[in-house]
Amino acid sequence: SRLRQGKVTSSARFKSSPQGPSSPSLPSFGYAEVSTRKKTFAEVQTERLDQAERTVLIKCPSKLNEKKLLQYLASHGNIKSHFFFENRGISALIEFSEKSSIASLQDAVGIPSASEHHVVPFKSRLFTFTLKNPVSQHVEETPLHLSPQCHIPVKDLIEKLCLADSISSQMYILLNEYQLTEENIKLRFLACSLVRDFARAYFPDSTVKPFGSSVNMFGKLGSDVDMFLDFGDTGKHATKMKKGPFEMEYQMKRLPSERLATQRILSVIGDCLDNFGPGCGNVQKILNARCPLVKFSHKPTGFQCDLSVSNSIAIRSSELLYIYGCLDSRVRALVFTIRCWARVHGLTNSAPGTWITNFSLTMMVMFFLQRRSPPIIPTLDQLKDLAGEKDKHIIGGYDCSFVSDFRKIKPTKNTETLVICYLLINKPESSPLYIWNPFEQDLNISKNVNQPQLEKFIAMARESAWILQKEDKTQQMINKEPWGLAALLIPFGRNNSSKMKNRMKGIGSETIRSLLDSLKLNNASSQQKAVGK
Ligand code: CTP
Ligand code: MG
Repeated sequence: SRLRQGKVTSSARFKSSPQGPSSPSLPSFGYAEVSTRKKTFAEVQTERLDQAERTVLIKCPSKLNEKKLLQYLASHGNIKSHFFFENRGISALIEFSEKSSIASLQDAVGIPSASEHHVVPFKSRLFTFTLKNPVSQHVEETPLHLSPQCHIPVKDLIEKLCLADSISSQMYILLNEYQLTEENIKLRFLACSLVRDFARAYFPDSTVKPFGSSVNMFGKLGSDVDMFLDFGDTGKHATKMKKGPFEMEYQMKRLPSERLATQRILSVIGDCLDNFGPGCGNVQKILNARCPLVKFSHKPTGFQCDLSVSNSIAIRSSELLYIYGCLDSRVRALVFTIRCWARVHGLTNSAPGTWITNFSLTMMVMFFLQRRSPPIIPTLDQLKDLAGEKDKHIIGGYDCSFVSDFRKIKPTKNTETLVICYLLINKPESSPLYIWNPFEQDLNISKNVNQPQLEKFIAMARESAWILQKEDKTQQMINKEPWGLAALLIPFGRNNSSKMKNRMKGIGSETIRSLLDSLKLNNASSQQKAVGK
C-alpha cells in the first residue's frame, strides 16, 4: 500500500492460541475451489463470466418437485450445476453445459398473455415455472435444500464465537460465516450477465463485469454488486490493421469529454433497465458523482447493484486485493473481522457519508500486514518488480503494473497468530484521515471521513483494546459471558464515552508498544521505501 509514513496513533494486539500461517485445519470455504488451485484473477473472471452466460434463473412454485423441474429442463440440454434459494419465493439457478440449451428453452416457453399488463417482449433468461397439475400430497418429496444468500445475524455469530477455543479460530469462524459462497458468486455473475443482455441492445460488443468486493475475495454475503460496462480493448484492434498501406477507423460520435460520454451511456442504459428490464427497480442515475453510476435493485437475484462504465484503476485494485487475499489465509480473516467490528459499532454504514468505508479499512489492514516483521504480504513495489511484460498496465499516467500470477510470489515466513490492529495515518493534508489510493497517489480514499467519525473510530478501537486487555477468558467462559472477538462484537454502552477516553492509559503493555514500534518507520530511507509502496 502506498501509504505514507504511518504515524500510529493507537493499536492493539490480541493474543490467541497458535495457528499456523496456512491454517491446514481451516474449514472448506466457498472460495476453496479458487484459492487452492491458485488461478489468476483473469482466469477466474473468464471462467465465471462464461459460466454466467450459460445460466438461467427460474422462479418456482412453493410446492416444487425438484426432479420434475430438472427432467423438464434436461430436455433442452445437460445441466451442469444448479441450486435453489429463497428470494420472495423459491428460485432456481440453472447452469447448462451449453449455451445453445438456453435458446432451445427460450423457443419452447410462452410469453405471458397481455390481458391485464402489457409486456415488453424481451426474451430474457428469467423464467417462471408453473405446474399445470399441482403435485399431489402423496408424492414423496424430499425437502429442497435452499442455499443461504445472507449471513447469520450478529447475535447468532456471537454464540458460535463463544464456542471457539481461541481468538484466532473465532476470526476464521467469522470469515466462514460471512464470506461469499460459491452459489452467491454465481448469482452475482449472473446479475452482471443479465444486465449485459440489455447493454448489448445498444452496444453489441459490450460486456458487464463485476468488480470490488464481489471479486476481490473480501465480499461478504449481502453486499452490493459493483459492476461496470466494458467495451473491450478498443486499442488492440487498431494494431492489427497496421499492415499494408491503408488505415481504416470507425466513424464514431465524438464528444468533448470522456466524462460526458460515460454520463450519456449510463443515462441510456439506466433508462433501458428502468423501462424494460424485467425485475429492475428503483433505478437511480447518479451521473454527477466523481465516478458516475446507475444504482438499481435487481429483484430476481435480490441484489442491489451499482453500474458504472469501465474504471480500469478500480479493476486493478480489485485484482491487487484478490492477490493479497489468496496469498495467506490470515489476510481475509483479519479484514472480515475488522469490517464486521466496524459495522457493529456504527463506524461503517451502507449509505455513503462521513464515515470510513470498507475499502479504506481493507487498505489499512493491508498496510499493517506489509509492516509486520517479517511481512505477511509483499508491498506493491515488490509485486511490481515481479511483473512480466503481460502485466504492464499504465492507466491515465499511473503505473498500475504488478505480477498477476501469484505463484511467482514467495510465501511469507511470518508465522504469527492472528492479530487485531488498526492504524491511523499521518496525513499530508487537512483531511482528518488520509489513506492513499494504491495507484492514484494523489487521491485520498478516506477524504469523506470527518473529525467526529475519526474520533469515534479511535474511541471504539481503544475500548476494544481495553476489553481484550482486562479479559479473563477462563472466567468468562465459566460465567458464559462472551469473550474475545465475541465481546468486541457487542455494541458498547452509549454513556461511557468519558470512561473510554481514559482507557488508553491502561493499554501500555509491552506487546502493544512493540506493535506500535514495528509500524513506525525508522528513518528517511525506510520511509522512502514505504512510501514507494
Ligand atoms: N474504489 C476506489 N476508490 C474509492 C472507493 C472505491 O478505487 N475511494 C474501488 C475499489 O476497487 C473498490 C471498488 O471501487 O473495491 C468498489 O467500491 P465499494 O463498493 O465502495 O467497495 P467494496 O470493496 O466493493 O466493498 P463493499 O463490500 O463495502 O461494497
Ligand atoms: Mg462494493
